This record gives sequence, structure tokens and C-alpha cells, in this order.
Amino acid sequence: MYIDDLKVKFIKLYGASSEELRVFSSPGRVNLIGEHTDYNGGFVFPAALSLGTTIVLRKNNENKVRMRVTDLPDFVEVDLNDLNKEEYRNLRWGNYQVGVMLALKEKGYDIVGCDMLYDDTLPHGGGLSSSAAIEVSTALAFATLSNEKNVKTEPVDMIEMAFCGQTSEREFCGVNCGIMDQFASAMGKKEHAIYLDCKKMEYDLVPLSLKGCKIVITNTNKKHSLASSKYNERRGECEKGFEILKKEIPSATCLGDISVEEFEEHKSAITDETVLKRVTHVIYEDDRVLKSVEALKGGDLETFGKLMNASHDSLSKLYEVTGEELDTLAYEAQKLPGVLGSRMTGAGFGGCTVSIVKEEFVDEFIEKLDRTYTSKIGYPPSFIVDETGDGGREIK
Ligand code: GLA
Repeated sequence: MYIDDLKVKFIKLYGASSEELRVFSSPGRVNLIGEHTDYNGGFVFPAALSLGTTIVLRKNNENKVRMRVTDLPDFVEVDLNDLNKEEYRNLRWGNYQVGVMLALKEKGYDIVGCDMLYDDTLPHGGGLSSSAAIEVSTALAFATLSNEKNVKTEPVDMIEMAFCGQTSEREFCGVNCGIMDQFASAMGKKEHAIYLDCKKMEYDLVPLSLKGCKIVITNTNKKHSLASSKYNERRGECEKGFEILKKEIPSATCLGDISVEEFEEHKSAITDETVLKRVTHVIYEDDRVLKSVEALKGGDLETFGKLMNASHDSLSKLYEVTGEELDTLAYEAQKLPGVLGSRMTGAGFGGCTVSIVKEEFVDEFIEKLDRTYTSKIGYPPSFIVDETGDGGREIK
């Protein structure tokens, strides 16, 4: 139904033609635990959502890509002979896609001209990787068309698509992000979370058996305009910390290589208090990811919930990426009945929290958290009780 409606909208916008309509989709993600560890070569544990980006497209046999989106009036026409045009960098909507096209070209793909209609079911800027969903679905769509044009029959390499998305985000959007979001969007699997070692790029799909619990996502609805500069600043602080520790532990190539024990032995070498706080977060967060994966594999949700709470505390007090809105949501949630754990998810500075809530308490959770947050912050949060979903794919 949803896809049929989108196809009808597409025809209304672009007119009918004998060329086939194709549909590609990629999800957003919720990170269960492992925050600000990916760009430090550490561990993350996200799950793909069922919400994300869906694209209906049709080849247009021109050297142009035309793009529209269902919830904005924007219309973007990209000249494939001149993808580097400055104006494409400054688009209000559509720049991620141009970034992806450039990244794909760099990898040897042909960009085939087509008309496209995007539909996003995730809140924008909500910390659920709405941008990764756009990037990965776009990459998959163009790589698929390119392979067909060049009569290549092997399936699209989804990890490569994740990297193309990351390149676009870094170069076109100024966020020097890690690989977690695009990886989860590309490689996710329904009813699973992905344990990813971001240094080795080794991953494990872990079945998510939540035993009568639900994943509840709560959006602060806070606009986070300074997020990218603060994000890059945190990265810089971690790099400084690593430079110091590397002298003490020469075998380490990134913070992800350093164990809690090694860190405790050598941390006194870091004299800058802020840098020490940032690095302490990363080292212990990596450890929490390993423990969480073990707990979830053993069906121990209680332990997992406690690790989530500890993660939030560390992000609030050591990494300092939460703020009043996220702290209110997480700490108030932790007090409610039926809540096993609650923490911020994503980059922080606004965005969402993720909570594990016993099913029979979900309604009460929403009602009470809504009330407390609204009275303290002055505007309401919003709630998403979503299922996990599959990674990027063509919908036939
Ligand atoms: C953003 C980035 C990710 C990751 C998280 C924080 O979502 O895109 O790469 O760094 O923040 O864990």
C-alpha cells in the first residue's frame, strides 16, 4: 500500500513512461550501546529500524538526476557532467545524495540518469540516522543501476555502500563521523542488533530476544544546530588523548585497542582534565559494549539495562554530550516502573533516548515521561515504539 501510494505520487510528479519504476529502501538505526566509540576504532551495538528512507526511481535516459521528496517542496536537478558544482554543496536538501554520487564515481561506478522521489519516515535530525538512511538507499540505488549498465551480476557490496555514505557525510555535511550509522543502515537485519568492531570491521548479527520488553525511543525534539562542531571537537580531544597513550602503549593503533587495565595503568600520563574525561568514557564504553553483547546473548536483560544506564551517565558526566533535555529523559525514565535501562542514543546534543521497557508498562512509561519532560522542559517529547528492520535493499 505504502509503496503503491509512493508510485502514484511519483507518476503525478514526473508523468508516465514505459521505463520501469524501481524501489529502494534503507533504514535508520537506534544504537543500543557504544556511543562515540566508532571513530576511536572501538565497538558499537546498533539495530536497524523499520523506519527509514524509501526511493522510487525511474531511469530517464538523460545525463541528469532529478530528485524530489514527499515532505518538502524542494526540486533538485543534478547535471551528471558537472557533479562538483559548488551549488550542490549548499543545497538545503539533496546534498547528501550528490556526495554519494561523487563517492560512487570515485569507486568506479557509473551514475545513471534517473528521476527520483524520496520518502523519509524518520524524524530529521533526531539522532536516528535519517541521513545515513538517505545515503545508503541512494548508494544502493545508483550502484544497482551502474552494475546493470555494465552487465555485472554480482550483488552490490553493502559495506562499500556504507563507506560511500560516510564519505558523503564527511565531505558534504562537515561531520567527521564514524561508520556506525551507515553500517547499521546497510547491514542491519530484522530482530537482530549488530555488534561491530570498527577497527577490524568485523561484525556479528546478534538475535535480539527482548523477552516481553520493547525498545522505546523518545525524541527530545530539541534542535541541535551546534552538533557538528561539538562532535568534531570531541573527536579532536580523543585524538589528543590517544597521542599521549600511544607513547605509553606503543602497540595500540587507536583507543579501541586499549583495555581498561592498560588504561588504568597509564592514564596518569594524560594531564589535561577534559581529555582524560573523554578518553575514560571511550575506554569504559567499549568495555560496556562487550559486556552488553555477552549479556544479551545470554538473555540477561537486567545486566544489559544497567550497562545502558551507566553508558548514559558516562556520556553526561565524562563525554558531556547530553544536556538538560537528554538527561531529563534518561534519568526520569530510569525511575519509572518496568524500565530496565535508558540512555541517549546517537551523537547527543539533542536527539533521542532509547529505553528498554517491559511491554505491560509501555503506556504508563509514555504517559509519565511525557508529563515530566513537558513540565520541566516546556515542550513535549515524542515517542517511537518501532520494530527492528532489515538493512538496505531493493523492494521488488
Ligand atoms: C553519530 C555518528 C556516528 C557515531 C555517533 C556517536 O551518529 O554519525 O558515527 O559517532 O554519532 O556514537
